[in-house]
Parts: sequence; structure tokens; C-alpha cells
Amino acid sequence: MAMINGYGSHPFYLLMEKSGKSHGVFLFNSNAMDIILQPAPAITYRVIGGILDFYFFSGPTPSDVITQYTEIIGKPFLPPYWSLGFHMSRNFFFRYGQTFEDLVQVYNRTIEAGIPWDTHWNDIDYMDNKDDFTLSNNFKQLPEYVNNLHKNGMHHIIILDPGIKSRQSNGTIYVPLKDGLDNNILIKNSAGQPLEGKVWNDIGTVFPDFTHPNATQFWKKQILNFHNIVKFDGLWLDMNEPANFVNGDFDGCLSFKSGHWESPQYIPGIVGGHLNYKTICMSAIHFAGIHYDLHNLYGLVETISTHDALSEIMNTRPFVISRSSYPGFGHYAGHWTGDINSSWDDMKQSITDIINFNLFGIPLVGADICGFHHDTTVELCLRWIQLGAFYPFSRNHNGQYMKDQDPAALGSKVLLSAKKSLNTRYYLLPYLYSLFWKAHVYGETVVRPLFFEFPSDNNTYGIDTHFLWGAALLILPVLKEKNHHVYVYLPKDIWYDFYNKTAISSNGNYFVITAPDDTIPLLIRGGYILPTQMPDLTTKLSRKNHFELLAATKHNQATGFLFFDDGKSLDVWKNDSYNKVQFKLANNTFFSIVEKNNCIDDNFVLQNITVLGIKEGLTNSQVNGIPFKGYYFNKTEQVLYFKMLNLDLRTPFNLTW
Ligand code: NOJ
Repeated sequence: MAMINGYGSHPFYLLMEKSGKSHGVFLFNSNAMDIILQPAPAITYRVIGGILDFYFFSGPTPSDVITQYTEIIGKPFLPPYWSLGFHMSRNFFFRYGQTFEDLVQVYNRTIEAGIPWDTHWNDIDYMDNKDDFTLSNNFKQLPEYVNNLHKNGMHHIIILDPGIKSRQSNGTIYVPLKDGLDNNILIKNSAGQPLEGKVWNDIGTVFPDFTHPNATQFWKKQILNFHNIVKFDGLWLDMNEPANFVNGDFDGCLSFKSGHWESPQYIPGIVGGHLNYKTICMSAIHFAGIHYDLHNLYGLVETISTHDALSEIMNTRPFVISRSSYPGFGHYAGHWTGDINSSWDDMKQSITDIINFNLFGIPLVGADICGFHHDTTVELCLRWIQLGAFYPFSRNHNGQYMKDQDPAALGSKVLLSAKKSLNTRYYLLPYLYSLFWKAHVYGETVVRPLFFEFPSDNNTYGIDTHFLWGAALLILPVLKEKNHHVYVYLPKDIWYDFYNKTAISSNGNYFVITAPDDTIPLLIRGGYILPTQMPDLTTKLSRKNHFELLAATKHNQATGFLFFDDGKSLDVWKNDSYNKVQFKLANNTFFSIVEKNNCIDDNFVLQNITVLGIKEGLTNSQVNGIPFKGYYFNKTEQVLYFKMLNLDLRTPFNLTW
């Protein structure tokens, strides 16, 4: 299998044996390497530096392997609640760069269409001459725009590239460069001078050395200076492999010809055929060593500096999304999968990607919804928004010159699809957030493949077309053009259609499930209770709505839990400042156990409980021992509804019938 290098390096694998047992192996090494799967079965590592520091994880379940792996590399961070809402990034039509007016136009049409969303992003278009920490004349109104977003309960993200302008231009001093030089924190070439490459600006680029002990202070100062101008809420770290438009540096790497760092005896399979292709010289000098050893760590160390700087500046949970990643990265930030095509193939591939990154301990992950390169189509975007509504990190982002693809730009069909799927996402956010808490504390996956839940069912091993949120919600996107159904394998269990509540009892069979244009098929697994909340136009609003519980029974039983906090404070787990409630349903009794009750929030009210898979009607019900009349049994659906319960979730309750 020919492989090439990508945006990140994760020398980790998880293996399933036919018996259903699983193990994992992690090679803790940041050098360039080939990892080759042999038919034997066997695996060959060819590593061109560092030490052979192997970790073995004995499972025996695949979930155990990931818990054991994240024990070593660090458990995922808990994202701010708002960051689980929908994100909208660049959209502009046949123009070089988005203008401020385009930004406002996208905002207006999205608001007018009533699409739930939380965050508007700015790509490099906002910068002056594509330099970090500057605002172009075209975007002078951005600070005011961002203040207005905040007034409407929304958030804002800007992009940052690690490389900063390498020369002062006439008249003005570019402070990041001056500070970088004064503090001696720039990566150097083998002659001891700042290494100069080229990224977006017209002049040239030098690169902060984030392994330097003073780099975080330097970076924090630049971020703070710019934050004093634009009150962004998080940062998007791009080009941090680090990418470079010249190979090595302007001088072609001084030691390139003789230096074994630039051309070692063995070069692993790599785009461009040499190690410094479209990145900086391998002989470049960092505080912590040479780039040859540190290349794969650059995105991680930049992310850690950014995370630490943001936590200090904002004193709230930082939100960082980065393109480059390495083991341990998930402890600090989330990831998007980079520049993909607007194609059906790339849409399908994104499922494998989000599953992989969950195995890598980076559950907050998503791909550019509707694709980046090339124009999308109505049908592709319609289906991609449905799938993207179930990416843990859900963002629509577009490439230069591409046709607009924000949900309100492509006509009524896309709009309907977007509204329905995003409203469903917002409805399910308490469940999603609770899964993130479990990931944060126990290192579990948020998105997982079916074989994680059914390890002894070999039929699940190769499934890469559908995926689960946690143990309970199966997501079945349409991945082919002109299809209005999905053909799926369901492991032996009871599954309930999210929309019409029909039960599907599978013995390990294939099923056809219909998928009209506006619908992504979703199944709830019997035995689970999902906490939900009425959707709204932002998470700020939806968080104020009442809670509901959706219980899917299996043999008259189900369990679930809700984690909730203020959605933004640092260290809620360490500080114990959260609420956690367990729910159990067993034989006509539904009750809660309040495990933690430390988050003071007025909006912790449970109104409705919906119980799926109920065969028989009822003649009475009681809440905490008091007769309760607000129930309704739908015999055809086999669903029992309890409405207007008005229960404070901070106090244990029981409901019997
Ligand atoms: C490359 C990133 O992958 C892409 O998302 C971004 O739009 C461009 N850089 C421009 O900043």
C-alpha cells in the first residue's frame, strides 16, 4: 500500500482479532517513518531517527484500547458548549478573497433563513497583506461586527498561520517580527540566522519556535494585542505542519547538499520525494533540537502555546482548531481534516477520518462541509450538510473562487435539509456534550465505528459508511448521488427510527431505510436514554430551553445520563462545578440519581419524557408518588409520552406507571 505524508502523524494502530479481541500499539516517535502492512499478517516500521519507544495496549475491547492509549497521551479537552453548535466559515463567489460585505451577506441570509448556528469564522481575507495580527482596510468594521455577534449570543473565530512576515516594510514596524527577533524565538537555519521561507504574504516568512521556553509569552502578547482590536473567541491554526511555499528556505537549505538531515540515506514515502518538500529545512534549529526530529511536533507545540495563551487571556475554556496534529493533541484542541474536494468520494472518506481521529484521542473533529476544492452541487451539499450536522465539529468552509455553499445560498432544498438536520443536532446537543465529558474524563470516543459496540460481530469490522455517537445513536448518511435510501447492516439489537419511532429488531441483517431529500436516517439503540433539549437559533438560546429525555427500551429497560455545566469555565471537572444525573428505566419505573449538583443554573427543568417500544397502554401514572395525568400512549407507534412534568433535574425523581 503506497502511503504519503499528510497533515499530522499518529503512529498508532488498533487491531481487531477474529475472536472479537482488540489490542493497540503506539510508537512514540516523531521522526519520518514508513509503516507498512504485510500480508503475513505483520507490520514493518522503517523509522529514520529517534528511539523505538513502543507502547502496547492489551484491550481486550477496542474501547479499552483507546482508554488505555489516552491514559498515556492525555485525555481529550472538554470543548466549550457553544463550539458544538454549527460554524460557518468563508463563502464568496468567484472573487479573490471574501470582503466584509460578503461576510455580512452570509450572516444576513443565514439569519433570515432561520438556520441554527453559533459561530462565524474569518479566513486570511481579514488580514492586511496576509500578515497575522493585522486587519486589512476592507475589514475595518470587523471589530464592530464581532461585538454585534456577541450581542446576539454568537461567537467569532479568526485564522492564524504560524509564519510571520520576515522583513519590515517601509515606515511601519511589524511588531510580531520585532518581538520574535528581540526575544530570539525564531527557528534558525544551520547558519544560525532566522530561517526564511514563504507562506501567504508577498515578502517572506519566519517561523516562531514553539519549543522555546519564551515562545508562549511571545505568542500570547501578539494574540492579546490583536484581541484588544477584534474580540475573537477562539483560534484556527492553519499551515502549521509547517507548510511553506518554497522547499526548505530561500537559500535552498545551506546544508542541503552535504547535510544528511536534508537527504538521509533512506527517505520514507513522501510527497515531493524529499523531506523538506513544501516545508522548512530539516537542518533548521529549534531550542529543543533540529527540525528533522521535531517536524511532526510543530503543530502540537504551536497548539499548546495557543491553548495556554488563550486560557490566560480569556480566562475561559479555550477553543482551538488546528490542521496539524500529533499524539496528545486532543488534550488541547480539535482538528479539521484540511483541504478536501467537493466530491461524493471525499464526503464518504470524511467518515473514516472522523472515526480515525476519535481513535487518536481527538474527538472534536470535522471535515469542510460541502467540500473545499471545486464547486459543490445542490445534491452533494444537501447530503453533506446532513452528514456534517453529525460531525463532532460541524463547520461549512469553502475554497477560493468556489461557488457559495453556505446553507442559505443553494436554494430551498439545501435550506430545508440544513434546517432539519441542524435542528436535530441542536436537539441532541446535551447528549453530545455528555459524550464529550466522558471522553474528557475516561478517554472514550465520541464518534465510534459499529465494531466498538459490537466487537464480537465480525460483520461490523469493515463498515465505514455509518457511525455512532456514543453507544446509542446510529447515523446513516446518504453517500451516493440520486439515492433516496441507505442499505445498511444492523448488528443484533433493537433499533428505533428517530423520526417515526418504528422499532427494527435485527438479528444481524441488512435493511433498507428510506432517506428523502431533507432527511438523514438516524436510529436509536434499544436500552439507552438520550438527554435532549429543545433546539434554538444559537446554543445560548437552546441552553435556556427545557430538557427532554428520549428513552429507547430493550426488554423494558434503558439507562442514560446527563452532564451539564456552565459550558465555558476552565477545569469544571477538577473544581467539581457541574451537574451529573443518571437515568434508569426498569419495568414501568423511570427514576433519576443525582450524582453531582454543583452547577447553579435556573434552566435545569425536565418537561417531557418519551419512551419508545412500549407494548401496552396504562391506566395511571405517578410522579414522586403523586398521581400524574399528563401522559399519552400511542398504540400504533408503541410510544408513551409524558408531557409538562416540570421537574427540577437537580432533585431525584421517580415516575411510575
Ligand atoms: C489552507 C487551509 O487548509 C484552508 O482551509 C484555508 O482556507 C486556506 N489555507 C487559506 O487560509
